[in-house]
Amino acid sequence: MKYVRLPYYSKDSREMSLSDLKSILSTARQNNTRIDVCGMFCYDQQYFIQVLEGERE
Ligand SMILES: Cc1cc2nc3c(=O)[nH]c(=O)nc-3n(C[C@H](O)[C@H](O)[C@H](O)COP(=O)(O)O)c2cc1C
Repeated sequence: MKYVRLPYYSKDSREMSLSDLKSILSTARQNNTRIDVCGMFCYDQQYFIQVLEGERE
């Protein structure tokens, strides 16, 4: 079993509202929990930073 930590950043393509962010977070929590992936999600000044952890597969 190969465990992987994947950090990345990206820039938004349009301004994100609080509701946009809540929607992304909600989807991520549902999907990631289902496949046993956890992590961290931040957004500030038009940039996302995310770290995902889980099995490589
Ligand atoms: C910065 C960013 C991070 C995201 N992280 C995740 C994530 O960790 N897990 C996830 O399921 N969706 C994440 N999403 C949402 C996906 O882009 C996508 O909207 C969602 O998985 C639904 O995909 P679908 O349209 O193919 O059903 C993220 C979106 C953004 C913009």
